Amino acid sequence: MDKVKKEILISKPEIDDRVQSLADEISRDYEGKDLVLICILKGAFVFMADLIRCLCIPCRVDFVRLASYGTGTVSSGSIMITKDIETPIYGTDVLIVEDIVDTGLTLSFLVDKLKEKGPRSLKVCVLLDKKERRQVPFNAEYVGFDIPDRFVVGYGLDFNEMYRFLPDVYVIQED
Ligand code: XMP
Ligand code: MG
Repeated sequence: MDKVKKEILISKPEIDDRVQSLADEISRDYEGKDLVLICILKGAFVFMADLIRCLCIPCRVDFVRLASYGTGTVSSGSIMITKDIETPIYGTDVLIVEDIVDTGLTLSFLVDKLKEKGPRSLKVCVLLDKKERRQVPFNAEYVGFDIPDRFVVGYGLDFNEMYRFLPDVYVIQED
């Protein structure tokens, strides 16, 4: 039984449009550079897959897995890398691809960690931004949508590992 009520916040056609615009911007900004896109697993895998197919410049991809959020909707605060990238990024132009920035803790942590590897440049692209929830100052260079402080699922984002498969982004209410 599905006891979670959910309503569409951002539809798949709206996401598609925005992803294409972000990809156009990225293609312009990284023309002639050595672009490596780093996807944060698991939540960003759908966004990453769509984003790279809208680019018109060459790029390499890699994946990092972080443990931070636990289960449910409340952040645990502590972050660790459970699967590191395998691509040497020294001297490359790295773009981190993430589903959502909330408190900012995860991305600040990862940006610091990846900087230690000496990329020529390091920027962040997020699909969703809950700006009012920041606990540390953090700004992504590329933002798909600013959203209110509500828990969202779909398009890769989960609630207890469910709903990642949904094509749209939904707001959920736990009963
Ligand atoms: P921080 O707080 O470190 O969090 O910026 C980023 C991570 O928190 C998860 N997150 C969510 N996941 N729906 C989700 O499915 C949400 O509304 C949500 N808000 C934060 C997400 O894993 C992200 O990587
Ligand atoms: Mg995530």
